[in-house]
Amino acid sequence: MHIPVLLEEIIQALDVHEGDKLIDANFGFGGHSFALLPHVGETGKILGLEWDPEVASYMQQEIMRKKVEKKIVLKNGNFKHIKKIAHDEGFTSVKGVIFDLGVATWHYKQSGRGFSFSTPDPLDMRLNPEDTKITAFEVVNYFSQKELVEVFKNYGEEYQAERVAAEIITKRKIKKIETSEELSEIVMRAKGHRGSKDASARGTRTGRSHMRGIHPATKVFMALRSFINDELGNLSEGLRESFDVLQPGGKIAILSFQGLEDKVIKSIFKELKSKGALMLTKNVDTPYRRRRFFLKKTFPVIRLIKNYHLSIGHLCTLSCWLCCLG
Ligand SMILES: C[S@@+](CC[C@H](N)C(=O)[O-])C[C@H]1O[C@@H](n2cnc3c(N)ncnc32)[C@H](O)[C@@H]1O
Repeated sequence: MHIPVLLEEIIQALDVHEGDKLIDANFGFGGHSFALLPHVGETGKILGLEWDPEVASYMQQEIMRKKVEKKIVLKNGNFKHIKKIAHDEGFTSVKGVIFDLGVATWHYKQSGRGFSFSTPDPLDMRLNPEDTKITAFEVVNYFSQKELVEVFKNYGEEYQAERVAAEIITKRKIKKIETSEELSEIVMRAKGHRGSKDASARGTRTGRSHMRGIHPATKVFMALRSFINDELGNLSEGLRESFDVLQPGGKIAILSFQGLEDKVIKSIFKELKSKGALMLTKNVDTPYRRRRFFLKKTFPVIRLIKNYHLSIGHLCTLSCWLCCLG
């Protein structure tokens, strides 16, 4: 089960009331939606989008089991088509859209699709195998050295992209790289680590990376996942489209913890400003460096940008400072 991140802040910032309609664009295991249900009350409703068919099908059963199928409508779809899905389901004017970008812990631990460094899973990394044809196996084993460098740099900001790509090319001449564990070993060696038994790489796998710095293969894995699933393209389209389904005063809340997503979000914000968006941008620095952004829709007369910077030193203590620039 995914523990919803910054739940209280989301509830507060979206200012959810009885009767509101919301869209949870990254439904996952429903952490945010289930917690928001009591706030929308008997007359409100939530539309959830989940691109992974396995997660969506499991959660559909959970929704039935919890007997909330009249309150939560879950669709197996990509949020880049949010406008059409929302229209089809009668969510044309909503109070808020929540994006909780990335993948769920389940993907790393149980999906068997090679998202994690430490499992001997086949290299796949597709969130939706029907919509996405190319796998991590194909990229790693058939892309040219130049193409690999581009993927690692452009989608993962991996500064040792050349060394990693060169090592991949050498290793795949001997034997195809088949599992995420093999790839992780290759990346570590390319970066001067002795392999998974190297003390400097231990204890840095999924979920614990913040304790001792990130695992040496993090950026390469992130780059592959992002490239294969076109995560940045989905985000641009999803943000643009979700602005169109907001009611006046409605807000988009985005949880992101990746620099490249951050850039996309800021550039789409600029675009939407010309459509009359009021930006309430909050950066929350938690130990996981999660950030959230809020975008408020107003009528075109108001073209005011407010920037807030909120920094939380420790997730638990909430010792924070707030600086309003707007
Ligand atoms: C970080 S998890 C969300 C967790 C969720 N908020 C919860 O509390 O359980 C992100 C989820 O979004 C899904 N996802 C990723 N890209 C998507 C897309 N383009 N459209 C819809 N869902 C997507 C992933 O499959 C994953 O289940």
